[in-house]
Amino acid sequence: MSIIARNLTWGVRGRTIVSDVSLSVAPGETLGLIGPNGSGKSSLLRLLAGLRQPQSGGVEINGRDIARVPRRALAREMAFVRQDSATDTNVTVRDVVRLGRTPHRSALSGWTAADEQAVTMALERVDMISHRGQSWQTLSGGERQRVHIARALAQSPQVMFLDEPTNHLDIHHQIEILRLVRRLDLTSIIALHDLNLAAMFCDRILVLREGATVAFGTPRTVLTESLLREVFRVEAKVNGAERPHIVFCPGQEFGSGPTVRQWDDEPSGQGFRALPG
Ligand SMILES: Nc1ncnc2c1ncn2[C@@H]1O[C@H](COP(=O)(O)OP(=O)(O)OP(=O)(O)O)[C@@H](O)[C@H]1O
Ligand SMILES: [Mg+2]
Repeated sequence: MSIIARNLTWGVRGRTIVSDVSLSVAPGETLGLIGPNGSGKSSLLRLLAGLRQPQSGGVEINGRDIARVPRRALAREMAFVRQDSATDTNVTVRDVVRLGRTPHRSALSGWTAADEQAVTMALERVDMISHRGQSWQTLSGGERQRVHIARALAQSPQVMFLDEPTNHLDIHHQIEILRLVRRLDLTSIIALHDLNLAAMFCDRILVLREGATVAFGTPRTVLTESLLREVFRVEAKVNGAERPHIVFCPGQEFGSGPTVRQWDDEPSGQGFRALPG
């Protein structure tokens, strides 16, 4: 499914939070949203998913105006993994993932073999099948995150919106989840803070600053040293051939703080030393 957003603007109490953002995502493509804290990534994701109405502009999913598609129909096509998902405490992992099937079931139909299969497959895909009977309350942060991703997968969506899906995950599961989202036949839009993961897994990247688009293109064209300096306020070297690989360089201003004393022990002659790649 394709997604096209035109001139999306949204704000609250006179403050503009998303400002005139336009983008397009082709069927099967993975778009990364990056930007500093508070730049509007989560707000833009909600607008794109139709969870919030823009003050101006609009979103089309496969040529249909999202504002005119009934919510239930949207829920059969699109899944949203929130940045901080909460779930009622007294449920098992399997119960949480079963909720993903809700949009596909009518009031009259019972739980079907297809529903069961979707839940099992989703739990397997996030490596949580062995936890299916465990109480949600007792899961670790990363396990909860994987279960929420499983719930979204159980929805069998064609479009997936993921708001920082990797933020509690160990490096193996960060890579596995992003690889999985890419492997599935899905259109996906993912807000990410890890710029190297964005470079590795996204077809295109949109950079937000104070709600506005600063850059939109392939990782190679977007992730430049000057953009990292201007938007993210970090010094970095961008290496890599096909896809950029960013090596952050703690700058001069970091040299005086006690937390980075370690860098002073091995002087590079430039006041900083590149982090190991
Ligand atoms: N409902 C709201 N009412 C008031 N301010 C809001 C509301 N929603 C978002 N904001 C503000 O809009 C800005 C953008 O928020 P948003 O959550 O979209 O940022 P973000 O890019 O996702 O940040 P982060 O990287 O920290 O997740 C923030 O300054 C936030 O405080
Ligand atoms: Mg956010």
